[in-house]
Amino acid sequence: MQPTIDTGTRPAVTPATAPLLDVRNIEVVYDDVILVLRGLSMEVPKGAIVALLGANGAGKSTTLKAISGLLKTEDGEVTRGEILFDGARIDGIDPDKIVRRGIFQVMEGRRIVSDMTSLENLRLGAFTRRDNEVASDIDMVFDYFPRLKERTGLAGYLSGGEQQMLAIGRALMARPKMILMDEPSMGLSPLLVKEVFAIIKKINRDLGVTILLVEQNARAALSVASHGYIMEQGKVVLDGTADELRDNEDVKEFYLGGAGDQRKSFKNLKSFKRRKRWL
Ligand SMILES: Nc1ncnc2c1ncn2[C@@H]1O[C@H](COP(=O)(O)OP(=O)(O)OP(=O)(O)O)[C@@H](O)[C@H]1O
Ligand SMILES: [Mg+2]
Repeated sequence: MQPTIDTGTRPAVTPATAPLLDVRNIEVVYDDVILVLRGLSMEVPKGAIVALLGANGAGKSTTLKAISGLLKTEDGEVTRGEILFDGARIDGIDPDKIVRRGIFQVMEGRRIVSDMTSLENLRLGAFTRRDNEVASDIDMVFDYFPRLKERTGLAGYLSGGEQQMLAIGRALMARPKMILMDEPSMGLSPLLVKEVFAIIKKINRDLGVTILLVEQNARAALSVASHGYIMEQGKVVLDGTADELRDNEDVKEFYLGGAGDQRKSFKNLKSFKRRKRWL
């Protein structure tokens, strides 16, 4: 993290080194009492794909909801720390305003509107827009996902993979600077996982959309991400480039192994304790 030097005047442009998203030491509490994030920090550079990995209940979805403001809809609150996007504070802001600033979350379990068509779902994604290019963006999304154009029935009848693609397409309709994706591989066959991740990579490369990718499928996530964070019990326990994480013995054992027993804890590992010094 780069220290900011306050010169008293606003810089004309954000320095190239400043991350697009900067989560600084946040604490999140649900229902005023349940402490879930305990001092979580992470950075996402502009134009990057960053993976956020961790076992069930580590707090991955909570982190995304803290960023998108959707925590509020679940009686959750950022009680400490700050979240900066494009240089400005966004913690505590309403979710629709965060969408307008350029962050769109694709929720876990896809959450498309099942009794609407794909086209209607895509139009919904453009709810914040007032320009007249919505129709051409719908064509663009159909170019990315030709199957969605062919299937004109209700979205509820689409396959799991098609629904995931529709959820990603709907996010694109907001013309976001950044997309937060919560477990896009969940429930998909290995072949479809490959297809969805190829599309994530393409979107990032072609449209320059920055992506924060939450996954339990570490192998798939690290194949497209440049950096990754591993969290456990509401905190980041390890971070590094995708290559470093792939080569890390503990990551291999816990997240890239065949059976991938994710219930074990990083904290029980001596090697992890030793490595913790450079965190
Ligand atoms: N709305 C809520 N109210 C109270 N506690 C919650 C709420 N949502 C999540 N939690 C708790 O916060 C912790 C982290 O949950 P979260 O959904 O963020 O984890 P996750 O890493 O996304 O897990 P998973 O891999 O299962 O999706 C869990 O202990 C969960 O029970
Ligand atoms: Mg989750």
